[in-house]
Amino acid sequence: MIHFDPATRTFNLLLAASVYAMRVDDEGRLLHLSWGPRPAGAPADAPLTGPGFEIFTRHDELPLTLRYEFSTFGDSALQEVGLKAQFQSLPQQMAPGEAPHLPIRDVRLRYAGHEIVLDAEPGLAPTHGQPTAVASPRETLRLRLSDPVQPLEVTLCYRLTPEHDIIERWVEVVNTGSEAIEVETLAFATLHFPNGTNELTSVSGWWIREFIAARERLPAGVRSIEQKTVQTGHYTNPFFLLNRPGQAWEETGDVYFGALAFSGAWRIAFEQLHTLDVRCQAGYNPFDFGLTLAAGERHVTPAVVLGVSPEGWGGASRRLHAFALERVLPMPSDGPAFRPVLYNSWEATYFDLTLEGQTALARKAAALGVELFCVDDGWFGGRRDDHAGLGDWRVSPDVFPTGLDPLIDEVHRLGMQFGLWVEPEMVNPDSDLYRAHPDWVLHFAGRPRTESRYQLLLDFGRPEVVGHIYTLLHDLLERHAIDFIKWDMNRYATEPGSVAGQAIWRQHTAGVYAVMDRLRRAFPHLQIESCASGGGRIDLGILGRTDQVWTSDNTDAFDRIRIQEGYSLAYPARAMEAWVTHPISHQTGLPSPLSLRFDVAMRGGLGIGSNLNELSEAELADYASYIAFYKRLRPVVQGGRLYRLQRVEEYGASVIAYVAPDRRTAVYSAAVASYLQGWLRPPAPLRGLDPNAVYRVVDRHGVEVYRASGFELMMTGIPGDAARGASSSRTLLLEATDQ
Ligand code: GLA
Repeated sequence: MIHFDPATRTFNLLLAASVYAMRVDDEGRLLHLSWGPRPAGAPADAPLTGPGFEIFTRHDELPLTLRYEFSTFGDSALQEVGLKAQFQSLPQQMAPGEAPHLPIRDVRLRYAGHEIVLDAEPGLAPTHGQPTAVASPRETLRLRLSDPVQPLEVTLCYRLTPEHDIIERWVEVVNTGSEAIEVETLAFATLHFPNGTNELTSVSGWWIREFIAARERLPAGVRSIEQKTVQTGHYTNPFFLLNRPGQAWEETGDVYFGALAFSGAWRIAFEQLHTLDVRCQAGYNPFDFGLTLAAGERHVTPAVVLGVSPEGWGGASRRLHAFALERVLPMPSDGPAFRPVLYNSWEATYFDLTLEGQTALARKAAALGVELFCVDDGWFGGRRDDHAGLGDWRVSPDVFPTGLDPLIDEVHRLGMQFGLWVEPEMVNPDSDLYRAHPDWVLHFAGRPRTESRYQLLLDFGRPEVVGHIYTLLHDLLERHAIDFIKWDMNRYATEPGSVAGQAIWRQHTAGVYAVMDRLRRAFPHLQIESCASGGGRIDLGILGRTDQVWTSDNTDAFDRIRIQEGYSLAYPARAMEAWVTHPISHQTGLPSPLSLRFDVAMRGGLGIGSNLNELSEAELADYASYIAFYKRLRPVVQGGRLYRLQRVEEYGASVIAYVAPDRRTAVYSAAVASYLQGWLRPPAPLRGLDPNAVYRVVDRHGVEVYRASGFELMMTGIPGDAARGASSSRTLLLEATDQ
């Protein structure tokens, strides 16, 4: 609920368990008042309207400590800002003798009005028209601020999802004058946290080591997480969890969280003042940022998704998961209820594709219970290895002399869906596309074009390039009965010269989103996986137009435990594609038992990437049994609430539970990554069960291994995790019984 008190000009955003408040002061400045969980016993509809002592004490000094709801460069040039702009002139009379010092770089925002609407959308919101699981309208507060001198209007937008304590924030900037305004910095929001909220949890990584979580104390000054690329990136990911040190844990304490719905160059900068006030600017990366607002032009930024959990980091993750499941992921009403079990041939055959080989794999996969068969790289143009062919999205007669349809038909006959790999933003210099259009790539005239994996990035600042890619993909999907595409993206930008200039950092993402949205509109049953050399493009923006993401190219089950745990801090299991591959990992060269590979992969959307031709009949039977078990677990894994019972960083083992919303079923999953704890691992009491229900605990073979009440399970856990060796992991299904 949005509450406005006209007497004190105070705005309250009242959510299920939290309150966010701000106020207009006597000078028209919009100042942040408070944000946090509602104290126990306080009525849910009670707004803050009191004097708000803290924010009004320092008006007579430099506005260093003022908590501007959106900070701008000018009077507060000493600190990080959410908006910096240049004006070409002063649209008012100057005092005698005053020089204008053009351009003028001073923005001050003053309250100009507000409205509450139901249909507001942030920038780059999906346009594919497909519904989300929950589509009820949400209230948005639009708070209009304007500069008293310059023709600039800024609207701060707050869209509420009260049941998850989530506020999406974004800004709209409008040039109401007749001269262009240069915007040099633009955040989606400025955030203020309670004083001393300075322990940050974020992830960092690289190819095959994505999502490694770390917790740190913010320094005095600025600590930023950011990516200077045209995709979300591997080095870090645009989300954070923040709490007072020592005052939050996995299931207790107040944890603030945020995640960007944007896949371009981004930055989330935390600034801790000498007062221990912590603020944050979240949005476009100011590095090489440029936005020219022509006369009358409006720019709407994407959103940052924000919230606070009174139930620790786990509660923060569950709120983000629920938000993504209900409000972000497209869920066509006649689409699959759950993500299908996938087979992908990449690690089995790499570029060695033939109709016979793929058909043989497809038959074996179908016999195991696989539901979606995906052909990876190498099926098109001159793509016999990674040196050539990107850009030529035509089925290669060298690989499939009779075309792709015989394979597609066979896959469909076997009762599976058919998927295909594409990498639409790329071109190899050795391709027909590049030979025809050498100017269609990012580059600066007269400068080298640095190749990475022998490829260059297409210039999505050119509408004709985006149009061309759309047409090629549209034709491919129209000609063949393709149900799923794996949309890959395998290099970072260098020499970012584009016809769009500095806008390329945003326009590349806008172009990718637009092509995906148009394809989804044209082919309502098409499913899309986002991949970027593994987990390089995972964020709430891409999740709005995809069905799943490829978490990492690292399919070593031991490494995967840690990667998936980091992913789970922000993103839901339903979208987390996880494959079972070979006994000796192709990435690490290390062995892992089949049980661990399945137990870890069954924590997300299960995929198989092994070479099925290398498996014995007994092993194939084992695969089939795991896949059948996964199908029983799947509704809980993909739609349940995640509880991290033991984290790998602390225990050397990761123990998690997914609990169905009605608490009648749950999945318990333990995976030991190392024996640093010795063999005497502590039990992991469960969470989130119905204390009064009695649960049957069954294994993959349907054998009841334990039976206890929810109360007992949440006090003591399930016995039997402490063993070593073959049972270093296990997955169990809990079902409430009536006895
Ligand atoms: C990237 C992807 C892999 C695979 C290859 C194909 O590395 O992450 O899964 O598709 O490209 O070239």
